[in-house]
Amino acid sequence: MKLFLDTANVDDIRRGANLGVVAGVTTNPSLVAKEGRDLTQVIKEITAIVPGPVSAEVVATDTEGMVAEGLRLAAIAENVIVKIPMTEAGLAAVRQLAQQGVKTNVTLVFSVNQALLAAQAGAAYVSPFVGRLDDIGQDGIALVADIVDLFKLHGLKAAVIAASIRHPMHVTQAAMAGAQIATVPYAVLKQMTQHPLTASGLEKFLADWKNATEKK
Ligand code: E4P
Repeated sequence: MKLFLDTANVDDIRRGANLGVVAGVTTNPSLVAKEGRDLTQVIKEITAIVPGPVSAEVVATDTEGMVAEGLRLAAIAENVIVKIPMTEAGLAAVRQLAQQGVKTNVTLVFSVNQALLAAQAGAAYVSPFVGRLDDIGQDGIALVADIVDLFKLHGLKAAVIAASIRHPMHVTQAAMAGAQIATVPYAVLKQMTQHPLTASGLEKFLADWKNATEKK
């Protein structure tokens, strides 16, 4: 399973990319708004840092508007993936963009049927939101597992991005469920590197080494 960073913060993306584990980036209007920066400029910078897929989301809600916005976003860089919300208008936009060779990521997916429709419309990626389902007492990881199974069973080519990831266990569970990608906030990526026994083990190694070398 590949890891994407779920952020529009270029400093965090640079830090993550330095670790050699970030294969792509996903953004959304909330994440870009949080940075208070121009969308085109932010996407340009991110695509220069990460050579893999970078999702940039449309804010139009009608098909024509989404297609026009999608074409503008796709023109920013070759690795831009146009993120389209899972609506009727969105599905039609996905189809039109696919016909023009533009790859899309269908976002705000909360059911197997929505994932099925997105894949059939021609989406390259579908993004089930794990954390937001958990928040309302449903099982987000079970949805990821069901979508992975469905795509395998019916030979659907869209890749599954486990999104709305809140903690490291979500990442492990998404990987075990067969998601091709998990998109994670930078804070979760940092948590994934850590374990209390790694920290205490390293402290002990260094203390033992210091003791031994000071005795010489
Ligand atoms: C996915 O692409 C979305 O940007 C994101 O994962 C949403 O996560 P949230 O539920 O933490 O806002």
